[in-house]
Amino acid sequence: MERIVKIFDTTLRDGEQSPGCSMNLKEKIEMATQLERMNVDIIEAGFAAASPGDLMAIQEISKHIKNCTIASLARSNKDDIDKAWESLKYAVRPRIHVFIATSPIHMEYKLNMTPEQVVKTTEELVSYAKSKCSDIEFSCEDATRSDVDFIARVIDTAIKAGATTINIPDTVGYTTPDEYYNFIVSITEKCPAIKTVDISVHCHNDLGMGVANTLAAIKAGATQIECTVNGIGERAGNAALEEIVMAIKTRKDYFKADTRIDTKQIMRSSNLLTRITGIKVQPNKAIVGNNAFSHESGIHQHGVLKNKQTYEIMTPESVGLDKNKLVLGKHSGRHAFRDKLEQLGYKLTNEELDEAFKKFKALADKKKDVFDKDIEALVSRQKIDVPR
Ligand code: KIV
Ligand code: ZN
Repeated sequence: MERIVKIFDTTLRDGEQSPGCSMNLKEKIEMATQLERMNVDIIEAGFAAASPGDLMAIQEISKHIKNCTIASLARSNKDDIDKAWESLKYAVRPRIHVFIATSPIHMEYKLNMTPEQVVKTTEELVSYAKSKCSDIEFSCEDATRSDVDFIARVIDTAIKAGATTINIPDTVGYTTPDEYYNFIVSITEKCPAIKTVDISVHCHNDLGMGVANTLAAIKAGATQIECTVNGIGERAGNAALEEIVMAIKTRKDYFKADTRIDTKQIMRSSNLLTRITGIKVQPNKAIVGNNAFSHESGIHQHGVLKNKQTYEIMTPESVGLDKNKLVLGKHSGRHAFRDKLEQLGYKLTNEELDEAFKKFKALADKKKDVFDKDIEALVSRQKIDVPR
């Protein structure tokens, strides 16, 4: 039996932190409603201490969303935790998400704290959060640049103080898949208590390895994945929800895991976020890019027309698209061309098809994509009998 990996969506918190991705209250509620429809387990709705507007947005999202846990982020200080708790007062399933940095560079330059002070603060502030809420996530910020013995000690402290989920973030997108795998295995050996709570991973994409690192962490035993729709997030973004979910679904046999995501809602979620933020998805982006299910080359089009699985490892329908697209261009072959003509209602003899195909190739050499109206113009000019 596959184990279920929880999906923790942080589009509305880490995602919103990326330039140009700010959302107003109405947009946040619309997005949260779509995340609930897609069946994510946890929605990180914001960072309450960031602004009164953020706190209020978390409250409003909590009123609307009934089927997901709602998480609110807090630094390791009482004021942040109080605000996070205040923001969650209407949530059916509230979670306070407390974090503190554990890497030498962050402890020295950002926190101005010694490692001992970080351990003590973890103990005190996780206990404080626990006195308010039973569901506590604790994150060691910049985990992947931290000393493994030290981080294991901090995690052990957080679990003893009441944390129910431990997050091991690759905050600056620095690690690699095999290194991250070994890091998590090593933490598990040094702090066996981690097996009694959820192990979460949160990967940034600075070196383009956010999704690969996340998938390696699943192999190492992670039980929760943090991600964003379309991979939006700080700098180069966070690991993309749609890529992780579809990788797990498509390679279920390999990961021996699954998620609760209704994958048919993936396209709708991606399109909604694009509409809200105005930030377009690159055409060749995996799963949700415009070309992700398009085939242009003749060899591929011929294969797909005979059996979709020749060049498709998942169906467009499984992510909520109608069907794959055969884009006609200079690489397309006769099969795809004839198929397109039939779709447009044209039935040509073999000779007519030969002539039309030559003209199509000549046109495709001059034009990047050949659209339906170009083909119609082309065959109409040939004065072919067109049954409509
Ligand atoms: O990237 C990070 O470390 C974070 C934490 C607050 C979890 O976003
Ligand atoms: Zn992050």
